[in-house]
Amino acid sequence: MSDNQPTPDTILRLINGYWSTGLLGAAAEHQVFTHLDNGADSAAQLAERAQISERGAQTLLDGLVSIGLVDLDRGRYRNTPAAATYLVKGRPADLSAMARLKLTHMGKLAALPEVVRAGGPISDPTTEVADNPHWGEVVPAIAAQSVPAAAVAADVLGLDEAGAVSILDVGGGSGIYSATWLERNPAARATQLDWEPINAIARRLLTDRGVADRFTCIDGDFHTTDFGTGTYDVALYSHIAHQEGPEDNIAVFTRLKDALKPGGALVVCDYVVDDDRSGPAFPLLFASEMLLKSQQGGTWRRADYHAWLTKAGFSDITFHAAPPATLVIAR
Ligand SMILES: C[S@@+](CC[C@H](N)C(=O)[O-])C[C@H]1O[C@@H](n2cnc3c(N)ncnc32)[C@H](O)[C@@H]1O
Repeated sequence: MSDNQPTPDTILRLINGYWSTGLLGAAAEHQVFTHLDNGADSAAQLAERAQISERGAQTLLDGLVSIGLVDLDRGRYRNTPAAATYLVKGRPADLSAMARLKLTHMGKLAALPEVVRAGGPISDPTTEVADNPHWGEVVPAIAAQSVPAAAVAADVLGLDEAGAVSILDVGGGSGIYSATWLERNPAARATQLDWEPINAIARRLLTDRGVADRFTCIDGDFHTTDFGTGTYDVALYSHIAHQEGPEDNIAVFTRLKDALKPGGALVVCDYVVDDDRSGPAFPLLFASEMLLKSQQGGTWRRADYHAWLTKAGFSDITFHAAPPATLVIAR
C-alpha cells in the first residue's frame, strides 16, 4: 500500500456507527456517566454501582473510550468534559433520555433506502398523525436541548426586564421554554398550543417549577386552531418548521404575524443549514430524520426562512447561534 493510500478506518467506523448509538444508549440506561461522576473509576466499581456484569462494564468503558466520551488515565476512567456536562443525571442539559430513545429508533433506519427511493415515509408516518404517541416519548427527551436555546432567546429578547409580556408557544412540547421564561420574568404569562396529552406533560413541568399559575394550554392542531389577533408580545415555533413544508411554514408565519401585537417578536428555533447547503454538520444530517418521519419536512436554509418570514409580513429578521440549532428572530 502506498503512503498516500487512504485507510478504511473512517469508513468502517461510519458503517458501524450504530455501535455508538448502542453504546451510548446502554451507558445512559445504566447511568454509567453518573456513576463515573460520582467516583467509580474502574470496570469493577462501575459493575457494582450500576448492577451490571463486570464483563459488560469493561466493554462499555472500552467503547466509550473509543468514541471519545470517557478518558482513561493510568488505569482510571473518567468522563470527558462533554460527557460530564451532557450525560450526567440531574445536569440541566442532560441528554441521557435522548440517548435511550434513539436506541429504540435504530431499527427504523433499515427502511432508509426505500424511503430515499420514495421521497418520504413508506409506512409509519409520524409528524402528520394527530395525537401521535411518538411525541409523548420525544418531548421530555428533547427538552434538555431546548434549555440553552431558551436562555439565548431570553437574552436576545431582553425578556427578564420586559415586564408583563404574553407569550404563545406553538407546539411547545415539554413546556421547557415557558418554564424557563416564566421563571426568568415573574410578570410574564405563557400559552402553549399542542396536542392534549402533550399539554398535560407540559402542565406537570410548569407545576414542578412553581409557575403553572401563569401558564395556559390550548389543545389542538396548530394548522387549524385560531392563534388570535394582536394578542401576544412573543410567539415561539421551536423544532416545528423542519416537520413542515414551505407552504405550511409560510401559512403559520403569516397567522403568527397577525397574532402578535405591533412590534412583537416571532422566535423560530430550528436546525438551519447554510444557503449553499455545505453545513453545519448536524442540520445536514437531521434532514434524514425528516425524510423518514414527515411527508414535507426537511432542514431549511437561512434564505428559506428569510423569504418565508418576509412573505408573512416580517421585516426585521436576525439569526442567532444556539448550537446545534439557530434562532431566527423576526419582528
Ligand atoms: C419536536 S417537538 C418540539 C417541542 C418544543 N417546541 C421544543 O422545541 O422543545 C414538536 C412538538 O410539536 C407538536 N406538534 C406537532 N405537530 C403538531 C400539530 N399539527 N398541532 C399541534 N402540535 C403539534 C408535538 O406534539 C411536539 O410537542
